[in-house]
Amino acid sequence: MENNKQISSKGVFISLVKSIDAYNWLLKDHHRRVTAFAYQLGSEYGLGAKRLAKLVIAASIHDIGAIYVAERDQLTKMDVDDPEPHQINGARILRGIKPLEGVRRIIRRHHVRYEDMLTGQVNPADICEECWFLHLADRIDIGTLMFADDSDPHGRIRETIRPRFGRDFLPELAGTFERAANSEEFWRNADQTAYQELLLSAVDTELADMGPADLESYALLFGRIVDHKSHWTLTHSRSVGFVAERIGELMNLPGETRSKLRIAGYLHDIGKIAVPAEILEKPSPLDRTEYSTMQTHALFSSLILSGNDDLADIGRWAGNHHERRDRSGYPMKIGEDRFETEMDIIAYADIFTALLEARPYRASLDKDEAMDILRELSPLKLSKEVFSVVSAHFDDLATLLEESEPFGTEENVPGAFARGDTARYL
Ligand SMILES: [Fe+2]
Ligand SMILES: [Fe+2]
Ligand SMILES: [Fe+2]
Repeated sequence: MENNKQISSKGVFISLVKSIDAYNWLLKDHHRRVTAFAYQLGSEYGLGAKRLAKLVIAASIHDIGAIYVAERDQLTKMDVDDPEPHQINGARILRGIKPLEGVRRIIRRHHVRYEDMLTGQVNPADICEECWFLHLADRIDIGTLMFADDSDPHGRIRETIRPRFGRDFLPELAGTFERAANSEEFWRNADQTAYQELLLSAVDTELADMGPADLESYALLFGRIVDHKSHWTLTHSRSVGFVAERIGELMNLPGETRSKLRIAGYLHDIGKIAVPAEILEKPSPLDRTEYSTMQTHALFSSLILSGNDDLADIGRWAGNHHERRDRSGYPMKIGEDRFETEMDIIAYADIFTALLEARPYRASLDKDEAMDILRELSPLKLSKEVFSVVSAHFDDLATLLEESEPFGTEENVPGAFARGDTARYL
């Protein structure tokens, strides 16, 4: 990325990881707590610094592939019937992001059972040492949820976990668990560990080479988390990034602005992690309440992206993608006086992309239909200047959508999500 030296990709990465945990509608605080447990177990066992760092990063995003309420309800039982879909989805989301390849391997098998390895259901070569720690830490946190109202929750968790070594968990970790769980601090740290510092040191060790140029891959990763929540929009965020960047290029904006536009496109809908998937995926029209819940995503995008100063421009452009110059947009109904051309660009890129994508309730629109809708927005709602660029280069911009193929399709993997699979999770 040109001229972007001032952006700290590490800071941005950590701030987004923390947001995923804090605003995650499906599994709030789970990632942070599992990270604290995993880190303590790994330290107690004497895992090397490099492995510990990898474990911390994997723990902090391990359930990004989980989508539905029914899935959450499954994962929050001590024995998960079918963890495959969310493990496969998590691995897909991370696919192709080289520095996170090790983390991807851990996430792919973070529910691995010792017995499944013994019986040959899982190939031992596919299991990393860190997988065992993550699985154990994850189940410990589920135990804290299950026994929250018990008079001796920690005792109950220990009784529940103990017989599972040699069956669900690696037997070598039994002693580590007993020693760690014996201390009150172990439990207290689930909520009191300085998450920021833990992530920072893990990122420094495991992703030491992360530079400004990597910001784009990581932004794409967070965009994928959102896109995966709906089968209909698997490439939406990526396409919006491509289109916004190209509009910037056609308008001769500086290189730095174009890069930021692309990232803002990747991240514009990040707030959807705070919206129930059942609303995002609903194939029929939303009722009034559902519609207002859906609209909150724009506000959440702003909140999530406001966590880091390096994201200020990106956050403003992305967070205002549903605003309109005549104050008819949402969430803040900002007007002409606070509008920036980059906001028009993201808004146009979003609408343009959405109109050309098929949705559960309609097919993709053809050029004339799409142009009619885009034309109506200008000049009152969005800038005339940006509209003329979109209109003059419609076909060129449309080819960018064709290039934006779905990533990591693993259609042959048993248990992988496929279009139309939704029903079994609802
Ligand atoms: Fe999981
Ligand atoms: Fe989990
Ligand atoms: Fe949106």
